[in-house]
Amino acid sequence: MIPFFKKSPANGQPRRLTVRILRHNPADPSSVPHLQDFAIEEAEGMTLFIALNEIRATQDNSLQFDFVCRAGICGSCAMLIDGRPGLACRTLTRDLGDTITLAPLPVFELIGDLSVNTGKWMRGTSERLQTWIHANSAPKLDALEERMEPALAEEIYELDRCIECGCCIAGCGTAQMREHFVGAIGLNKIGRFRLDPRDTRSDEDFYELIGDDDGVFGCMSLVGCHDVCPKQLPLQTQIAFLRRKMALMGLR
Ligand code: SF4
Ligand code: F3S
Ligand code: FES
Repeated sequence: MIPFFKKSPANGQPRRLTVRILRHNPADPSSVPHLQDFAIEEAEGMTLFIALNEIRATQDNSLQFDFVCRAGICGSCAMLIDGRPGLACRTLTRDLGDTITLAPLPVFELIGDLSVNTGKWMRGTSERLQTWIHANSAPKLDALEERMEPALAEEIYELDRCIECGCCIAGCGTAQMREHFVGAIGLNKIGRFRLDPRDTRSDEDFYELIGDDDGVFGCMSLVGCHDVCPKQLPLQTQIAFLRRKMALMGLR
């Protein structure tokens, strides 16, 4: 058999890995969730993306998982890696033990094995939080955009780096207990639109969207979101800022 990826033995011997995957196909009534072990040889620079593709190509073509960009940009490959949410395409096997356990992200609808429907959750949250610019009038097609201070543009850009991977939701205890909690990603988006001078909504308008226990007051400061965000967004600072702002407005 032709190796899927060039093997590069360390000290003469490549490491033998066991990839333990939580398997389940909710579309099949006879499917029972179970762990399945796959043995592979580690290769130099191997990521979980490469490992999973090797398993699918050589051992089980029914294995379900998602990848698009392989570069930490699209957010589709997030999964639980040894119990911690992370991006499979940015995770090197050499940073993990001989046995690697993979499971789908919790909270999101399971499609099958490691594939979850983050898009459905993200769309629902975006609609609920109205994460688009609210302007008083439609911009004219030939109009130049208002100039924005570079420091402010930079601040907005920083929050816009979210790739909607869902790791912050999967790493949040509140999101697992409270079905409609908007989580760090939702609060981060509100923080982003609050900053944007093109958005004419007032603080009271934003309060209407997140000033309850499914919003900023549901957050119990568990900080898991901040710890697992692969883009290192300042989630904790954002949430603390919004909570303080709303408390100062006398809204809680
Ligand atoms: Fe992923 Fe971070 Fe965005 Fe959450 S805030 S969805 S962890 S990139
Ligand atoms: Fe959850 Fe992050 Fe708050 S983990 S409880 S959203 S600080
Ligand atoms: Fe796009 Fe991993 S495949 S972030």
